[in-house]
Amino acid sequence: MYRQIVVLTGAGISAESGMSTFRDQHGLWEQHHIEDVATPEGYARDIELVERFYNTRRQQLNSGEVAPNAAHLALVKLEAEFTGELLVITQNVDDLHERAGSKRLLHMHGELAKGRCPQSLQTFVLREPFGVDNCCTCCIPAKRLRPHIVWFGEMPFGMDRIHDALDHCDLFIAIGTSGTVYPAAGFVDSANHHGAQTAEVNLDPADRHSQFQYHFTGKAGEILPQLVEDILAGKVIGSE
Ligand code: OAD
Repeated sequence: MYRQIVVLTGAGISAESGMSTFRDQHGLWEQHHIEDVATPEGYARDIELVERFYNTRRQQLNSGEVAPNAAHLALVKLEAEFTGELLVITQNVDDLHERAGSKRLLHMHGELAKGRCPQSLQTFVLREPFGVDNCCTCCIPAKRLRPHIVWFGEMPFGMDRIHDALDHCDLFIAIGTSGTVYPAAGFVDSANHHGAQTAEVNLDPADRHSQFQYHFTGKAGEILPQLVEDILAGKVIGSE
């Protein structure tokens, strides 16, 4: 029986909900240059281009066609019924974990639904798209809100809490992430180092595949419900 579980999710968990991943075929990074839309320098160069990129993602997310899938729901069941500690760390900026009902959740790469004041760093939930009229209410004169997204070269959120959870977990599961972006790609090493079991759920073996002890290959929405049932039944991953 596990006592502390840490789950890391990536774009793959939202793929079955209709959200684009980054590095799969036709993924976002095939269609856009990272340095243009996901760096502070790109934002300083061309605010409108960056805002258009995130406004398009927001539209997709709020189109009414995107909803949490069986993998998001399985993690909610785990949170509700697991008697130990659980933390879901997501690299995703969508809100599908929240919509499914997850509460013990940390958005390490930020949230599409929010903008941030560049001066006070206060965050605001946005109803309107990013643009010149979308300003903070904390400064005079009001400042144009920037997307509350962690760009390349910036520090992810919640790293102290994440390291603390990784230091104490006895099971670490990575779901739908290619394992190419640090520091998230290194979480499996911390978990291994502290003696946790480590498992990967992915459509294809990810870059850091060999770091995981257990592999579940397939769609997250098909694998997670059973995996969660097994954990709740007190089974140890990898045992029959
Ligand atoms: P990637 O697009 O790099 O990887 C998605 C992974 O999900 C791949 O390994 C796919 O094989 C897998 N996958 C696709 N569909 C799946 C499914 N239905 N079930 C299970 N796995 C599936 O996305 P991330 O690893 O999340 O950062 O990318 C990490 C970070 O890179 C993102 O948070 C983003 C990006 O640059 C920022 O923008 C800061």
